[in-house]
Amino acid sequence: MQIQDRSFIVSGGASGLGASCVRMLVAAGGKVVIADLGQSQGESLAAELGEACRFVCCDVTDEAGVREAIQAATELAPLGGALACAGIAPAARIVGRDGPHDLALFEKVVRVNLIGTFNLLRLAAEAMAKNTPTADGERGVIVLTSSIAAEEGQLGQAAYAASKGAVASLTLPAARELSKHGIRVGTVMPGIFDTPLMGVMSDEVRTSLAAQIPFPPRFGQPEEFASLVRHLIENVYLNGTIIRLDGAVRMGTK
Ligand SMILES: NC(=O)c1ccc[n+]([C@@H]2O[C@H](COP(=O)([O-])OP(=O)(O)OC[C@H]3O[C@@H](n4cnc5c(N)ncnc54)[C@H](O)[C@@H]3O)[C@@H](O)[C@H]2O)c1
Repeated sequence: MQIQDRSFIVSGGASGLGASCVRMLVAAGGKVVIADLGQSQGESLAAELGEACRFVCCDVTDEAGVREAIQAATELAPLGGALACAGIAPAARIVGRDGPHDLALFEKVVRVNLIGTFNLLRLAAEAMAKNTPTADGERGVIVLTSSIAAEEGQLGQAAYAASKGAVASLTLPAARELSKHGIRVGTVMPGIFDTPLMGVMSDEVRTSLAAQIPFPPRFGQPEEFASLVRHLIENVYLNGTIIRLDGAVRMGTK
């Protein structure tokens, strides 16, 4: 899918990996709607990027809000793609000091990370299915964000790993089903990236985590994530696949 003169919706586009994709898309000539929460930096990022970018305040789990964000994107240009970057990662043990894992917290993580991702996928696919196809028969592309926690979930990551494993499992059936509309689906499994999500860690924890990464022995940069997302958008033969982006790290138990 070409980026120039197409619109894209980026959930969680106000911060971290999503924000880096927003910048990449605008720099490549695309139009972007940042779909993120009201308390996020979405408004200021959209103002900084000018006319090619709009902020629509929405919770990714909400049908009406995501519909509004997609509508805003289609008003900027034909909707070329949707990037699902919104996510949360609270840690909790299955049996902790204060008792069992809070069920409401488990549901919240699954709701934002999985149901929110599916909400965006289904509504964006519905909109993109109406596009005039390219010469390749392509109508759109959807990029999901899983995590290496889907494969190596650590202590305290039961809810997060379960939600990200489900996002990974969604990739192939979604690609198969949407192929008749000319819509591709790909998923990135990021390793450890330097974003506000990770910013809560102490320097000691950050240093110890970075030391586990074979090469390069540092956290990933959001621009490296955006670079892979750009390739997923532009390479029409990439479909139904999950790509780890992790410097060869394999996480241990904790
Ligand atoms: N940073 C990492 O190391 C890492 C590793 C693996 C996977 N990921 C995944 O990448 C994605 C982006 O993470 P990040 O590190 O950029 O985090 P981040 O906290 O910097 O950004 C996440 C964004 O999602 C938004 N968001 C949260 N809940 C939302 C909701 N209900 N509706 C709309 N927006 C919502 C937040 O406001 C924020 O702007 C997440 O899905 C995360 O799980 C991150």
